[in-house]
Amino acid sequence: MSHRYFEDVSPGYGKAAPRAVLASDAPRLDLNGDWSFRFSPIGLDEPDGFESPDFDDAQWDRLPVPSHWQLHGYGKPAYLNIPYPIPVDPPFVPDENQTGDYRREFDWDGSPAVLRFEGVDSCARVWLNGVELGVTRGSRLPAEFDASEVLVKGRNVLAVRVHQYSSGTYLEDQDTWRISGIFRDVTLLARPADGIRDVFVHADYQADGGGRVRLEVDADGPVEVSIPLLGVEAAPATQTFTFERVRPWSAEDPFLYEAVLSTPSERVRVRFGFRTVEITEAGVLTVNGQRIVLRGVNRHEFDPDRGRVVSPELMRRDVELMKRHNVNAVRTSHYPPHPTFLDLCDELGLWVVLECDLETHGFDQTRPEPWIGNPSGDPRWRAAYLDRVQRTVERDKNHPSIIIWSLGNEAGDGQNLEAMAEWIHERDPSRPVHYEADRLARYVDVYGEMYRTPAAVRRIGQGGLLPGEIFYPLTAGAGDPADDRRNRMPFIYTEFAHAMGNGPGALAEYMRLTDEFPRVQGGFVWEWIDQGLHTTDAQGREFFAYGGDFGEELHDANYICDGLMFPDRTPSPGMLEYQKVIEPVVIEPGSPGHVMIRNRYAFLDLSHLRFTHDQGELQVPRLGPGESVEVPVPALDGWLTVQAELAEATAWAPEGHVVAWGQVPPAVPERSPALSEVRQAARRSGDHLLLGPARFDRRTGTLVGLGDRQLHGPRLALWRAPTDNDRSTGQGDAGYWKARGLDRLLHRTVSVETSDDGLTVVVRSSAANAGCGYLSTYRWDTDGQRVRVSVHTEPVGYWPERTSAFDEEMVDSDLPDEERKELLRRHSAPSLARIGLLWQLPEEASQVEWFGAGPGEAYPDSRQAVRIGHFRATVDELQTPYVRPQDNGTRADVRWAEIGGLRIEGDPVFNLAARRWSDRQLAAARHQSDLVPEPLIYLYTDHAVQGVGSGAVGPGVLPQHRLEVRAADFAFILSATD
Ligand code: GAL
Repeated sequence: MSHRYFEDVSPGYGKAAPRAVLASDAPRLDLNGDWSFRFSPIGLDEPDGFESPDFDDAQWDRLPVPSHWQLHGYGKPAYLNIPYPIPVDPPFVPDENQTGDYRREFDWDGSPAVLRFEGVDSCARVWLNGVELGVTRGSRLPAEFDASEVLVKGRNVLAVRVHQYSSGTYLEDQDTWRISGIFRDVTLLARPADGIRDVFVHADYQADGGGRVRLEVDADGPVEVSIPLLGVEAAPATQTFTFERVRPWSAEDPFLYEAVLSTPSERVRVRFGFRTVEITEAGVLTVNGQRIVLRGVNRHEFDPDRGRVVSPELMRRDVELMKRHNVNAVRTSHYPPHPTFLDLCDELGLWVVLECDLETHGFDQTRPEPWIGNPSGDPRWRAAYLDRVQRTVERDKNHPSIIIWSLGNEAGDGQNLEAMAEWIHERDPSRPVHYEADRLARYVDVYGEMYRTPAAVRRIGQGGLLPGEIFYPLTAGAGDPADDRRNRMPFIYTEFAHAMGNGPGALAEYMRLTDEFPRVQGGFVWEWIDQGLHTTDAQGREFFAYGGDFGEELHDANYICDGLMFPDRTPSPGMLEYQKVIEPVVIEPGSPGHVMIRNRYAFLDLSHLRFTHDQGELQVPRLGPGESVEVPVPALDGWLTVQAELAEATAWAPEGHVVAWGQVPPAVPERSPALSEVRQAARRSGDHLLLGPARFDRRTGTLVGLGDRQLHGPRLALWRAPTDNDRSTGQGDAGYWKARGLDRLLHRTVSVETSDDGLTVVVRSSAANAGCGYLSTYRWDTDGQRVRVSVHTEPVGYWPERTSAFDEEMVDSDLPDEERKELLRRHSAPSLARIGLLWQLPEEASQVEWFGAGPGEAYPDSRQAVRIGHFRATVDELQTPYVRPQDNGTRADVRWAEIGGLRIEGDPVFNLAARRWSDRQLAAARHQSDLVPEPLIYLYTDHAVQGVGSGAVGPGVLPQHRLEVRAADFAFILSATD
């Protein structure tokens, strides 16, 4: 069968050569707005006259441009990660291929112009006044068509046919919503005769503080340039300009200059920054001579209501939010973003890894062998690959924020990728090339990997992985001499710390490695934002939708919700954790009576910051990059919090915004709670046993009242509503817990014994048909006012070992043998979600107050963002609304808590969680809107909980943060408050 035009492997036809986005004074017409729209659920390949200027479209619908038609009631969104939404039958697409026909009229003076589309998903055929201009593919890439010959004075009619799927779909298998349409701006740009078609500004920063500017201009006649801030006035643009002193551009100090280029018919303004990207002999990535650390995120474009249509306000918000959370870098996964986003990165300061619109991950799953038929290695697709990289680089080449080009994501290996790299090396040698799947580093300049463990990264830092240790080698022969080349390149985390649901864990471990090893230069958390689509169910309840919510036959569920930001852009606890871990200033306890302050900026000193603490300001010298100092602090009874805040407003945050903080513990250590010496005997009263203020059920030994407060408990709790990370088959423990029935424990009271100094209750907890469980001894005593329960609990029966995929890589290889063995043992030891006590309280107990870590949730491998203090919250406020409900809200290191008239003191400190639904309900819910409060409060006081890890995609909980099946001893003192 012959190809239909949208199935041709070529990049399309009729497009003008790609060029930069230029701010020109030539007239332009914004063609966004309401267009006439006709939807067809099938693939139409013959125009039926709609392209004609006289066609009557009065019966058509109206659709905004830019938009995705699936978010306006035509077809439905679908979420897929790796699988293709079409049969893998390249370059063909099925007949079930939605078609959107668009039409609009506009007035023009007839002067020459180009028609520019910033993004159309996935293939567009364009007619103006009935004349075909061409076809474009490459959804997130611009396409220009020269319309000069066809434009008329007065009314013009533009018709565009858009196909949901095309040959381009095979190159756009990115893990995101599959949604279509004209989703970025459409403009008509006048092209004056003798105008300026394109400019490439090369602005280098030199080691001696000087700068050099060279302009590559594409224009028919002579061009003059002015650079007002550097005293250049109407000079010929062909000249190379050198300056003795310039202010360099960096993400920390994003200083921009402007060049104004002019011909008699056009003036163009280009902003630029002086900066030089280099890789040293030792394999360290530097900018302007300084080693940088990328503290970044992977960003998909996302608006919960509009999909990949992002307004300038939302783009600004993203950049501001990143800056406020100390993020200094962004990888534009996995396509060039809307161009305005890059202007904002230049202006506000972010290091950018700019990625081409390319992914063929679905070929990884083709059979009989993965990657068979992958376009990346097929010469027929070469032109399409080159077209994509050219449109990427040409559009964005003038942004100082872009320091690395990335060929794409997960497109296997092959000659077309190599050709892309070669083209970039030729066209723009000033920026290194990245591509994670060039495992042998044949054509890239930086070495990127995904989701390695901290232990594996340590090995990379120490000199490199050995042959055979490369992750998922894609090409036969891994381990050849190219390893050596790769091991002398800067290493970046192309993706790490998969932020799905509750997590990621171990951010601190990952980022610490960037302090230890010069060539470990940080990277990008996967990912910036949960891409949950704002949706309303049949009952009118709002929720954020994920895969499967639109009836997709094939989908990847909530893997689309794996960001640091919730869909509405409120920061998740993972974001706050990252913000803390990547602070540009480290503030930590120093020698007694001192705080240690360390400057982690690469370029800035600390003069833009003000240091304060609870008692006033702290004088901190103007430390240069990398310098540190100890500063005396007042001796306090309590914890002292020192913070570094902006002394003046910046473009991204107001004055006073806190950039970093740290705490110094009290001079005198805190004391553990204790009962006074008086001891009392337990006595019987009807069906109850009484001990001081406490009342117990006589048969089960359950506490049922304290003074006039009602409560019910404790029950041993070992399970939690599995997090997305817990649910991972290879890395998570949810399967192990489920198989042992830890979510459905039954309890048998073994004995209830009273004595002169209290009460002892023994309970065995285990699930139906389970051969393992826990035996707990609760020893109660009282001083008359307060009761103490001292718990000893221990595993009984057979708890089998677990196995996991990452074994050796979970543990640092250079640890002393004993330590290493112990960690490996812990890694495969059976684990628990928690060892704790569950209590039930009346629903009125809705206010919580505590002294401990807060204000947010914390887990053993995600607890940097919390500080020790006195906090208050309602039970509802303690919940973290992960898009798919799961365990959340644990408050760590709690010394005491008060809830519903009860005071609970822990010995030692404990973890606290409270909610209005059971953990089983929490686990069963698909969306927040499924959670229905019960008329009671479930309160957990946990002696220990397991970390969260990043197991959903990546390493599970590191051995040191796992909670082993083991015995535990701990105590709580309970009393009624006034
Ligand atoms: C990576 C991929 C991302 C995303 C992530 C899992 O392999 O590059 O696009 O799919 O896994 O969420």
